[in-house]
Amino acid sequence: MLSRKVSPDSHGQASSYFLGWQEYEKNPYHPVHNATGIIQMGLAENQLCFDLLESWLESNSETLLFQQNGESIFRELALFQDYNGLPAFKNALVNFMSELRGNRVNFDPNKLVLTAGSTSANETLMFCLAESHEAFLVPTPYYPGFDRDLKWRTGVEIVPIQCSSSNNFRIIMPALEEAYQNAQELGFNVKGILITNPSNPLGTTMTNDELNLLIDFAIAKRIHIVSDEIYSGTVFDQPSFTSIIETLTDRHNLQNSDIWNRVHIVYSLSKDLGLPGFRVGMIYSNNETVVAAATKMSSFGLVSSQTQHLLSSMLSNKKFTGKYLKENEKRLRKRKEMLISGLLNEGIRCLKSNAGLFCWVDMRQLLSSNTFEAEMELWKMMIYEVGLNISPGSSCHCSEPGWFRICFANLSEETLTLAVNRIRNFIYTTTTLIQDSGTQDQMLNAQRSQINKWISKLQSSRDMADRY
Ligand SMILES: Cc1ncc(COP(=O)(O)O)c(C=O)c1O
Repeated sequence: MLSRKVSPDSHGQASSYFLGWQEYEKNPYHPVHNATGIIQMGLAENQLCFDLLESWLESNSETLLFQQNGESIFRELALFQDYNGLPAFKNALVNFMSELRGNRVNFDPNKLVLTAGSTSANETLMFCLAESHEAFLVPTPYYPGFDRDLKWRTGVEIVPIQCSSSNNFRIIMPALEEAYQNAQELGFNVKGILITNPSNPLGTTMTNDELNLLIDFAIAKRIHIVSDEIYSGTVFDQPSFTSIIETLTDRHNLQNSDIWNRVHIVYSLSKDLGLPGFRVGMIYSNNETVVAAATKMSSFGLVSSQTQHLLSSMLSNKKFTGKYLKENEKRLRKRKEMLISGLLNEGIRCLKSNAGLFCWVDMRQLLSSNTFEAEMELWKMMIYEVGLNISPGSSCHCSEPGWFRICFANLSEETLTLAVNRIRNFIYTTTTLIQDSGTQDQMLNAQRSQINKWISKLQSSRDMADRY
């Protein structure tokens, strides 16, 4: 009676990434009302600079009242429905994007398409660039939402580019070639590569060499590159961020060549400004046909005129954006340092990172075996025993078990300290168990019987997920 798209599995919501959020919702930590509840560390939200945004709003109340130069523009905004977007907002947005790249590149507002967040931008690009059952190559580990955003409604396939811890998950030519070949063996025509730079979940930026490698590969195979740069304003340490558009522009011989029209940027204000609820994203492309088609498609997910009005006012205030970006960088760096030093004290290492709202944490030594089953056991222990929702690497399609993404910018310093303390206690208890029981096997048996109890809990939440 219903289409195949409404079946629960096609959406990807049954992944441990989304299940963890559901478990958190059932028992959320609150310092006073639920001190033993689950701490949410699986959500890449940036809540560190709300005070700056709020103080800007306070001193710019005219904007909130739909006024401009003392006159009401309420009616104008209420009636505005041009899917090309407000010119003032698009100008402010392209200038902000240049600022994020140290003003090394300029963006043309006519090549920009507004979308309801990066979610919509990525899906729209898939509709524009590929047919159903054509493939995009995506380096692993990747943002779990891509299984929904790139595939669900478009029918596009993702073929992973397997990256490994042996070279800190960098993209190398043999991995690209292997993914391309795998796609062909599966019968998929490869239409492009989608990268996330800075990476979610790694928290690293791509090197110029990696970007050049991707460009060369895309030229050789005559395919597209989509670069999701949603975290470009979260870079808090060296090396600085290089956008693929910079690398491309620097190769002067490539300007106005085929590849010039096959590189597309995705961006959104969800992470850098911490405004995922405002649903502001965009596609930037030199390809006029893509821009024209995506603009028409944006009718299905426009950014409201009142949001455009508010943010054009905020982003065109250069004094504000400069201060915001500097402070955001400082606060993110401090948070990340807190998390990695806390974990390191317990002998847990993170991948060296310079960006993002999370760390990619190596918990391989806590696994009972080098398997994804053991990773899931540890994840369940973390959520039900330790009281932390963190994302297992398998939900990001990591090829090696034992890596977890831990977010640090959506909670207070006190909560982060508590989370690290909980990990410390967990490691202490586990070590004591090994010492008391004598062997690791006995300890694991004890852990397993506990886990069996949790599995039944998890089963009920899976049943819940099926009903969504
Ligand atoms: C890499 C990446 N792309 C896209 C999104 C979706 O962002 P938006 O809120 O702009 O739709 C996220 C959100 O976590 C993300 O990490």
